[in-house]
Amino acid sequence: MSESVLVPVPEAIAKAALVNEAQYLDLYKSSIADPDAFWAEHGKRIDWIKPFTAVKDVSFDPHDVHIRWFHDGTLNVSVNCLDRHLETRGDQTAILWEGDDPKDDARITYRDLYERVCKLANAFRELGVKKGDRVCIYLPMIPEAAVAMLACARIGAVHSIVFGGFSPDSLANRIQDSECTLVITSDEGLRGGRKVALKKNVDTALEHCPSVKTVVVVKRTGGAIDTVEGRDVWYHEITANQPAECQPEEMNAEDPLFILYTSGSTGKPKGVLHTSGGYLVYVSMTHEYVFDYKDGEVYWCTADVGWVTGHSYIVYGPLANGAISLMFEGVPNYPDVSRFWQVVEKHKVNIFYTAPTAIRALMREGEEPVKKHDRSSLRILGSVGEPINPEAWTWYHRVVGEDRCPIVDTWWQTETGGILITPLPGATKLKPGSATLPFFGVEPVLVDAEGNELSGATEGNLCIARSWPGQMRTVYGDHERFVQTYFSTYKGYYFTGDGCRRDEDGYYWITGRVDDVINVSGHRMGTAEIESALVAHPKVAEAAVVGFPHDIKGQGIYAYVTLVAGEKETDALRKELVAWVRKDIGPIASPDIIQWAPGLPKTRSGKIMRRILRKIAENEFGALGDTSTLADPTVVEDLIANRPQA
Ligand code: WTA
Repeated sequence: MSESVLVPVPEAIAKAALVNEAQYLDLYKSSIADPDAFWAEHGKRIDWIKPFTAVKDVSFDPHDVHIRWFHDGTLNVSVNCLDRHLETRGDQTAILWEGDDPKDDARITYRDLYERVCKLANAFRELGVKKGDRVCIYLPMIPEAAVAMLACARIGAVHSIVFGGFSPDSLANRIQDSECTLVITSDEGLRGGRKVALKKNVDTALEHCPSVKTVVVVKRTGGAIDTVEGRDVWYHEITANQPAECQPEEMNAEDPLFILYTSGSTGKPKGVLHTSGGYLVYVSMTHEYVFDYKDGEVYWCTADVGWVTGHSYIVYGPLANGAISLMFEGVPNYPDVSRFWQVVEKHKVNIFYTAPTAIRALMREGEEPVKKHDRSSLRILGSVGEPINPEAWTWYHRVVGEDRCPIVDTWWQTETGGILITPLPGATKLKPGSATLPFFGVEPVLVDAEGNELSGATEGNLCIARSWPGQMRTVYGDHERFVQTYFSTYKGYYFTGDGCRRDEDGYYWITGRVDDVINVSGHRMGTAEIESALVAHPKVAEAAVVGFPHDIKGQGIYAYVTLVAGEKETDALRKELVAWVRKDIGPIASPDIIQWAPGLPKTRSGKIMRRILRKIAENEFGALGDTSTLADPTVVEDLIANRPQA
């Protein structure tokens, strides 16, 4: 698709939109010219206990990185998401829950949600959870997940959500890193008709987590579980007799709200720390502007709360705005591949936000499963998590949205807290595959390998030149790693790890990661993590993992494995290694292809040349570049000759 394709803003959308093109340009200009005035104004969109007078105190200087927003203000995030709506919309739905089984659904009003949160918050306090304590949430997509997040926020506890697809080991690592004292989970989860043994995983993980004193268990399926006396309690029992009101903790704007672990180029996943005031201002503002959210609309983000998208755009942003947020327990292909559109029809969804991987998978099933459901309620579509290829974009636009709904292709990261580069529905002409233009206050810059800022139409490494309120504040427990990872590569900038192109119209096109992070079905994986899982197997001597283009997942996982001398390269061992990685990290990390590598291409100093491994994985043998610096160039010929065809 050529860059000249410009999809205009539909008139019906432009007329009613929060901002049109001229207003976007004006607001953007003023947000860059006088950021303090801009954010002082928009910081007022949330309720403060003690209003802030300071707007920001920020430095990206690697010797002194610090990021503070609204830092003399105090607030409580749960009060913003609940209490302040009670008078105006207490009886309006806050969470519209759709279960894995299409017969299962529930509407939870703001008053209901408020009462549930207060009860759990009281129970948490009774169990000894105090302000600043870390609480691990390992729950399926049930309303209790949102209740638990907000209950933590109410009492000032810091939540750390671990996606239900992670293994006991991954769960244990995350609990240990932040020394959580309480874990909340459910007996089992339910996804696509299959049960997931969450409580059992917690039991296994906790063999190595001495900090955890209490496990709260939500009864979801009623499946049998083991109970540890003195440690495990039932959610329904501890909340049953609690008052439906709970005094909120007064939090400083910079008090932590949550930790969320995410993969990087090296080492273990990092605990990305977000704080309270700036984060809430930013996610509520982006939710309203990017989705052009209007009172009473049904908004559905299909992410899991285990990822940042669920934090910011299922729970905090929408609820701060008093929205109706649809929460879906299931998967796109259960009971059949029309499930998304069934739900859209059933609940008259107006705004639908999903990932390109889901679109590509559904596109394969043809138009019929989409068209048999009424989608006339849809107004805005969204995309997040990975680059959306123009073909998938066009299908989403034409078939799902009937050429009537703008697609907001939102670029952001766990670290950014909220959306940074995105169209606004009433303001931005679209180009299929481009995340388009920066949100207010965001200043993207492209730099070359030496850190020189590039101007005009160009391609480079994507950095952000100044702070925004939703930015992460540190890596939990390791500020030096925060500085090293994001602020030391290109001085004076926040480095995103993404490559990006800017066209003649100033539109941004994310080209994917430039580091050793791969993006599998919109899930971030560090290749180093998968490698370390593989080499932990007794028969594996060495492993190198790279990404390769995958039709549905965006990227697949390609592992080169060198066995210990004397071990046989068998299909059975291949299967064993896949199962080994699944067990160690979780199903999302399963290698798609394992290639036996008697040797890996290394420089004479012993560094693995990943560039070459990536090319072989991409089936691009002509473009290997200079291999003359290799210690043993024949290794490459061998790998090419034996590349398995998936
Ligand atoms: C990628 C998810 C292209 C990108 C919110 C980024 C995207 C990483 C887009 C962050 C998009 C996210 N277009 N690429 N619209 N959105 N990405 O932390 O590589 O799970 O760095 O946050 O996903 O993934 P994360």
